[in-house]
Amino acid sequence: MPWNLAERTGRLGVEGAFDVLQKARALEAQGKHIIHLEIGEPDFPTPRHIVEAGKKALDDGYTHYGPTMGMPELRAAIAERLTQTHGLRDVAIERIGIMPGAKPALFFAMMAVLEKGDEVIYPDPGFPIYASLVRFLEAVPVPIPLVEERSFSFDLNKLRDSITPRTRMLILNSPHNPTGGVIPKEDILAIADMVRGKDIVVISDEIYASIYFGDEPPFSIAAVPGMADQTVIVDGFSKSHAMTGWRLGYGVYPAWMSDAISKLVVNSNSCTASFTQRAGLAALQGPQDECLAMVAEFRKRRDAFSTALARVPGLRCPVPTGAFYAFPNIRHTGLGSRELAHTLLYDAGVACLSGTAFGEYGDGYLRFSLANSLENLVAAVERIQATLKQG
Ligand SMILES: Cc1ncc(COP(=O)(O)O)c(C=O)c1O
Repeated sequence: MPWNLAERTGRLGVEGAFDVLQKARALEAQGKHIIHLEIGEPDFPTPRHIVEAGKKALDDGYTHYGPTMGMPELRAAIAERLTQTHGLRDVAIERIGIMPGAKPALFFAMMAVLEKGDEVIYPDPGFPIYASLVRFLEAVPVPIPLVEERSFSFDLNKLRDSITPRTRMLILNSPHNPTGGVIPKEDILAIADMVRGKDIVVISDEIYASIYFGDEPPFSIAAVPGMADQTVIVDGFSKSHAMTGWRLGYGVYPAWMSDAISKLVVNSNSCTASFTQRAGLAALQGPQDECLAMVAEFRKRRDAFSTALARVPGLRCPVPTGAFYAFPNIRHTGLGSRELAHTLLYDAGVACLSGTAFGEYGDGYLRFSLANSLENLVAAVERIQATLKQG
């Protein structure tokens, strides 16, 4: 019997990090020593008080279905936080949907608004799931190259020229995976001017919002007056509170979208795990010192790693201003990104990602995750330098 998958499954992409991790693990099984700089998750444990809150919630019986869009107390805590972080007052909790991760918050927003043929503008290089979902939904991908000289922000003229009557969605991600760039406030304001009042939904993926190294927190387009009806904030606890495995994220949707989002949740995961949400509440309401210490450690690693990389002949490493990635330009090595990533894994024992895992404009770059110790990051640069020297 020839079994056929639906054609749409062929349009789904994957994440390169998981592929490389698998290859690296296979090398480790052969006895090779690998420094893992491929995976995008904090290498810190979930703060203790959050774990305790999760355990207590299990003991207290938070083991059943909960409200579709999430527990009111967690949604209220998120609404309160939006006042502090975005200056948004009185966000109705009906607009907030708790999800098992930031990914479903994104997926459901795209499912809710995109029709076949709609154009979606997104950053390239960028989180590979954007392009994957655009294709899956038969929308039209419009990748906009990021400009290294602008700290990996858009060329605003190019962005403006890419907006057409078919544009239905614009995806922003700041701080940014994979470049570590943060979109400056003046660019956000200019982008808001380009889209405000048009039939364009902006997805603001803010999953790295609390991990930044400048004086000011990243500015969100959701904070620009007049944008509430056309902006979805995608956020969660995976990176900010080292909770990737708990699967806890959320979307802040325009009021007109929430019913559709709620139906998508009913039709897929029903709700998000109840005890996980109680842990999320503790994450928001409890002490933040471990999270701040994590960011301080990422800053140290960023400083050491980007300084060391910049000394390696052939590499140019813009200093990341947020998230926990470094994205050096490797063009002067004379090697392609895929080739160099392969060589580094198999010859140097350094696992990283080719910039092309994030789109065609990622060619000429590598992504290194800073989710490893300072010693290992420094050792990785030594290995990279030695390998490049050998030619
Ligand atoms: C830009 C970006 N958005 C969303 C996500 C997904 O986050 P979550 O694990 O909460 O689904 C990631 C994870 O790597 C990411 O890098």
